[in-house]
Amino acid sequence: MTDLSKLPAVDPEVPNAARMYDYYLGGSHNFAADRDAAERVKAAVPYAVEIARANRFFLHRAVRFCLGEGIDQFLDLGSGIPTVGNVHEAAQATNPAARVAYVDNEPVTVASATALLEDNPLATVTMADVRDPDAVFAAPGVKDLLDLTRPVALLMVAVLPFVADEDDPVGLAERYRARLGPGSLHVLSHGTTDHDPSDVRAMSDVYRTTANPLTPRTRDQVAAMLRGTELVEPGLVDATEWRPEDTIGGQHRGMWAAVGRIR
Ligand SMILES: C[S@@+](CC[C@H](N)C(=O)[O-])C[C@H]1O[C@@H](n2cnc3c(N)ncnc32)[C@H](O)[C@@H]1O
Repeated sequence: MTDLSKLPAVDPEVPNAARMYDYYLGGSHNFAADRDAAERVKAAVPYAVEIARANRFFLHRAVRFCLGEGIDQFLDLGSGIPTVGNVHEAAQATNPAARVAYVDNEPVTVASATALLEDNPLATVTMADVRDPDAVFAAPGVKDLLDLTRPVALLMVAVLPFVADEDDPVGLAERYRARLGPGSLHVLSHGTTDHDPSDVRAMSDVYRTTANPLTPRTRDQVAAMLRGTELVEPGLVDATEWRPEDTIGGQHRGMWAAVGRIR
C-alpha cells in the first residue's frame, strides 16, 4: 500500500481535476480553489454535473458488465477520489473475491483511497502517472494484486482527456492492452466536443487554469483509442446510451463510452 509520507505536497491554491470532479459529485475532498474552478465550469456549462454523473453511472454499469463476463480483476487508471460508489464496492458486492488496483497521480485522491482501503486486502491504490505504463505495471499495488495471465478489466474512464495529444493517448491505450491477455476488456469514456462545441471550449478554458488541462476529442479520435478491440453492444455511444438501466445517472450527452474486448 502507498506510503502516505512519500506523497508529493499538495498546493491547495491550484485547482485540480480530481478534486473538481469530487465536488461535482457531491464529495468533500476539495479545496476552495477547486470549488471556485468547478463553479466557473458550472457557470459556463450548467449541465457539466449531469455529464459527470452520466460518466460515473456508465462506470458502474460497465463494471457490472465485466463481472457478468466473468472478470474479477480491475485495473482502474485515473480512478479519482472515492466519492460516490467506488469500483471495489460495486465489484465486491457482486463478487467478494474481486480485486481492484486503483491508480491516480493526485495526492488527495491517493491518500483518501488509501485510508478507505486500509482493511481491504483485495484493493490497492498506487500513486503513478498513467502516461508511464511500465511504472504502473511494476508498482507492487498492481504487480502483486493482479494476475495478468487471466482476463483483466482495464478501466480508462474520463482519464484520457487529461492526456495531451503529444503524449499519444492512442499509443498509450495500445501499450496497456498489449500487457493484457485475451478475454480482457477495455472500458473507456472520453469527453467530447461533438455535441456542444462552444460550451466545451468554455469548459476547456477553465481547465486550462488548473493543474489538468483538458483535451476533449471527437468520436473518431475516441474510436481510435479502442482500435483493434471488438466493441461489445451497443458499441461506442454516448455514456447515457451505453446499456442504460435507469434514469438517475445524469442525462446530458457529452461523453463517448464503450467497452472493447481484447483479442
Ligand atoms: C474526471 S476524474 C475520473 C475519475 C474516475 N475514473 C471516474 O470516471 O469516475 C479524472 C482522474 O484522472 C486522474 N488523472 C489525470 N491525469 C492523470 C495522470 N497523468 N496519471 C494518473 N491519473 C491522472 C485525475 O487525478 C482524476 O482523478
